[in-house]
Amino acid sequence: MGKIIAIANQKGGVGKTTTTINLAASLAAEGKKVLIIDADPQANATSGYGIDPRSMSSSIYECMVDNYPLGGSEVPTCMEGLWLVGSRIDLAGAEIELISKPDRERVLERLLAPVRDTYDYVIIDCSPSLGLITVNALTASDSVIIPVQAEYFALEGISKLLNTIRIIKSRLNPSLEIEGFLLTMYDARLRLANQIYEELKGHFGDMVFNTVIPRNIRLSEAPSHGLPALLYDSESRGATSHILLAKELINKHSRHHQARAAQA
Ligand SMILES: Nc1ncnc2c1ncn2[C@@H]1O[C@H](COP(=O)(O)OP(=O)(O)OP(=O)(O)O)[C@@H](O)[C@H]1O
Ligand SMILES: [Mg+2]
Repeated sequence: MGKIIAIANQKGGVGKTTTTINLAASLAAEGKKVLIIDADPQANATSGYGIDPRSMSSSIYECMVDNYPLGGSEVPTCMEGLWLVGSRIDLAGAEIELISKPDRERVLERLLAPVRDTYDYVIIDCSPSLGLITVNALTASDSVIIPVQAEYFALEGISKLLNTIRIIKSRLNPSLEIEGFLLTMYDARLRLANQIYEELKGHFGDMVFNTVIPRNIRLSEAPSHGLPALLYDSESRGATSHILLAKELINKHSRHHQARAAQA
């Protein structure tokens, strides 16, 4: 069954979109069939793949507000095996238009139900807010990856996100799990970066990914070329670290399946 993973943190600029773009590309490079849902009105994941919103027959906005099906709204990307349902700025208005809908927190969950098994992974790029669209993403997801930028006050605000996750678990999506905390923009030369990794480990233990994403200029350049780092500069540490992340994720899921099969 396809696994749906939200990439979320209400703190801005921590690497959510960079993780979405490059993790999805790496999963596809590992042979998985992947769908990106751009659930942010900033549409950075859409433009980061060089997709012109005018080329999309419908965006996530029409899907969520006007009940267009997701199947048919996805566009192919430069990566084989990777599709994307794009966003546009109108999505900001969806917050208001959704309010009057019945079961307004489950709109994305309902949209994903008929397509989720077409894919091995669905990755949802969330906006830096905990508004209704992000609540929809967390309600539709099996798990959430929380990127944490290696900088001062990195952990500030995480308790608010964890609280939101707790509320969603209790009211809307009991099976939502934290897939992991991912340290991003890590600079091994800085003692601070190491301190933050240790602090994260101290707080969240095994829930922290072993893979750490380094600060790497290729990761910030690639989106302006409409490419994931893997196609822009496959040898860069930005590209290779995301391949390691994809492998860590795939291994974790296959271990999980094996453990389940052994129990059965
Ligand atoms: N590992 C990295 N190395 C270098 N630059 C990075 C790295 N990760 C992200 N960046 C850059 O930092 C900026 C913020 O990253 P990104 O857009 O992924 O964050 P975000 O959490 O999605 O932001 P927002 O909250 O606005 O959606 C971007 O300019 C991006 O290119
Ligand atoms: Mg973003």
